[in-house]
Amino acid sequence: MSHIATQLIHWHKDHGRHHLPWQGNRDPYAVWLSEVMLQQTQVNTVLPYYARFMREFPTISSLAQAPLDAVLVIWSGLGYYSRARNLHQAALMIMRDYQGQFPDSRAMIQKLPGIGRSTAAAIAVFAFSKREAILDGNVQRILTRYFGIAGYPGESSIKNLLWEKAEEVLPVTYRENQIETYTQALMDLGATVCIRHTPFCKICPLQQHCVAFKEKRVEQFPTTRLRKPLPKKEAVFLLLMQHQKLLLEKRPAPGIWGELWCPPEIKTGVDPVSYCQHQLGITVQFPVELPILDHQFTHFKLRIHPQLLHVVSSTLNPHNKFIWIKPSDALEQAIPAPVRELLKQTFLLDKHDPNKD
Ligand code: ADE
Repeated sequence: MSHIATQLIHWHKDHGRHHLPWQGNRDPYAVWLSEVMLQQTQVNTVLPYYARFMREFPTISSLAQAPLDAVLVIWSGLGYYSRARNLHQAALMIMRDYQGQFPDSRAMIQKLPGIGRSTAAAIAVFAFSKREAILDGNVQRILTRYFGIAGYPGESSIKNLLWEKAEEVLPVTYRENQIETYTQALMDLGATVCIRHTPFCKICPLQQHCVAFKEKRVEQFPTTRLRKPLPKKEAVFLLLMQHQKLLLEKRPAPGIWGELWCPPEIKTGVDPVSYCQHQLGITVQFPVELPILDHQFTHFKLRIHPQLLHVVSSTLNPHNKFIWIKPSDALEQAIPAPVRELLKQTFLLDKHDPNKD
């Protein structure tokens, strides 16, 4: 067996993580949900969201039957909302195309929306004991260091080489749970030992044959892309208040925060009072500038300038795109994290967050 596999399987017994709620659960639905949540979010943040999601939608069929809105409410605050939309879409596909049976091969799993090769492989391993290689960001870091592979892993030639290595070092699977233990060990090593900055090489089970360690070049791997600074965008959020209620608008999908509720947004430089008058049919007064809120997306930074506006009269017909809602009730809706922060700050709400219990 490869040095990596032997060492990792041994290491995992005493040093790996053993009590995560999705471990020991071979229900492919539970495995799928946890892997999707863990794609861009750390374990500690995922834990309460995972528990709540499983409570609300315990099966593929219950997820497929739920309206997307209800799914987004539970996802609200976790970010990267396309993950929730894809989960819902995939649940519908599994009910329609596979009679509710989660597909059991990596290739078929990978065809579902929101699931790339590495996530499909992780599900195939944990739910079906398939001998498949994973290659998420953590594993890329481990392999580039161990084999001393230079070059940006986002580039296809490097990525292909890393996939080859990932498959080459897979353990033989004559023992029960061997592939599961190995895969979990890789993830755990990447999360706790072979971390990006100042990794704990002294206690690493792979140290002996790690090229980067031997050459004292650990921090040089993986090669980073020359990053241009993220573009900056600005927007004004209009907090319109009438009878203690706030106006929220459902944002169009696709687009950022698609299908989530937000205050109406305008470009900087547009006059908020005349926008409200002419676009919304709402007469407002006393605009008050609130503190700026910065939010970072994957591809840009957004600077939000919130303005509080008092409604004098309104001819806006609330329909399914607009609601007037008490700020405290808005926290129960599918709203993005920065809007949640904004509402808490502005209206001094420090309500129990249902996702943080
Ligand atoms: N990151 C991605 N999948 C994971 C898992 N199953 N356990 C811990 N961290 C993970």
